[in-house]
Amino acid sequence: MLFNLFPRSEWLRDKQQAAPPSLPAAPPRIFLTGVTGFVGGAIAAELAGSESFKEMLFLVRAECAAEGVRRVRESIARFTPAEMPLHISESQIILADLKDAQAFADPRLDRVSHVIHGAAVTSFADRPDIWEINVDATMRLAERCSRLPGLRRFMYVGTAMACGVARGPVVTESLRLPVERAHLVPYTASKAQAENQLRERFPQLPLVTLRPSIIVGHSSLGCKPSASIFWILKVVSQLNRFVCPLTACLDIVPVDYCARTIVALTLKETLGFSVYHISAGRSGSVMVEQLLQAFHGLNAVARSQPYERVPEAALRQMALAYGVRHAVQGSATRTGRNEPINTRMLHKALMLYGRFSRLNYVFDERRLLSEGLAPAPCFLDYIGQCERSAAKMSLKAQMAHDFK
Ligand SMILES: NC(=O)c1ccc[n+]([C@@H]2O[C@H](COP(=O)([O-])OP(=O)(O)OC[C@H]3O[C@@H](n4cnc5c(N)ncnc54)[C@H](OP(=O)(O)O)[C@@H]3O)[C@@H](O)[C@H]2O)c1
Repeated sequence: MLFNLFPRSEWLRDKQQAAPPSLPAAPPRIFLTGVTGFVGGAIAAELAGSESFKEMLFLVRAECAAEGVRRVRESIARFTPAEMPLHISESQIILADLKDAQAFADPRLDRVSHVIHGAAVTSFADRPDIWEINVDATMRLAERCSRLPGLRRFMYVGTAMACGVARGPVVTESLRLPVERAHLVPYTASKAQAENQLRERFPQLPLVTLRPSIIVGHSSLGCKPSASIFWILKVVSQLNRFVCPLTACLDIVPVDYCARTIVALTLKETLGFSVYHISAGRSGSVMVEQLLQAFHGLNAVARSQPYERVPEAALRQMALAYGVRHAVQGSATRTGRNEPINTRMLHKALMLYGRFSRLNYVFDERRLLSEGLAPAPCFLDYIGQCERSAAKMSLKAQMAHDFK
């Protein structure tokens, strides 16, 4: 049984080090970065109906505060009912690019009690600004926050995949993360580096790291807010061939669960740990076989051939053939949903997600549950919503969420 591979001492490792803060009752003043992103938008939407929302500050890239307000409003509106009023004022907008050394100089930050740092370069490409934004800017923010007299929590949104390769099958929340030669993409290495440096350089910061697993869709809105990653799962189901075994596990959570959990941990008076996975874990992860069955059931497709496990070298040809088939279907249906796709991008995505799927990781969820928080819904419980909402978008538009 998997559970026995990880004795209590392993997952409880940093319990003693996380001194429970004693929090005064003053209302929180939350500073959020990354609000225009998938996760940040969902976090802001989660807080939108709360008393503390009007006190929130948002770091946004924009030409002026009015544009900043518009960007924040549009981002939150992806997750909230159309009739829900969203009162956001220009005084809540901190106009800044994380690349700017003065990004956190604004005196309004002096009164912040809770920081949720969600902004990051999330691209899997080897972009030169990944380290500058994901590591250097995070250190500048931590340095600024370490001087705030009323700071109660510094929530760093990391990623579960920062654990690197060769862990598993059940990954526990280790404090020290590997950086060099242990990552499939520079993005996860940069997130590991940022976490390590935060802990080493700012031991007094009330730091809590949150490590979401793979975020796909929304449990009731499906892919309406974003089709990120969903489209690749769907393509794999259509190909019915991929590089991982059918028994490989995928630890997937919906963005609203992730956001609700981040907000709950941010505002919870005491926490037992300083690092948490936000994951489906043992009970909620899905096997590739279940995923394919669910997709085939939703599309009423009977599999004529059994699933075939292929070597990575086969993916290029598969991507090209898929692109041709997609274009042919497009000219037959003329719905506009089959606009030609970039098969080079598709090949790259198949390769990278194939490598991640072969890691076969499940991220230990016991710390999260020990805080009394709800377990994540299983992807199979809301895959139908994702499928229906994505059917209204072209594959090209869905892919754009991951190739910004
Ligand atoms: N999505 C997942 O599957 C997943 C899984 C695990 C962990 N995470 C973590 O969750 C966090 C959010 O991810 P996400 O999926 O929401 O990413 P995302 O949709 O790509 O959003 C990234 C956010 O960061 C902001 N940003 C990037 N560069 C910036 C800069 N130079 N200055 C100011 N803001 C900048 C973006 O602002 P603009 O709109 O101006 O570009 C956007 O608001 C990240 O820390 C990521 O590591 C995500």
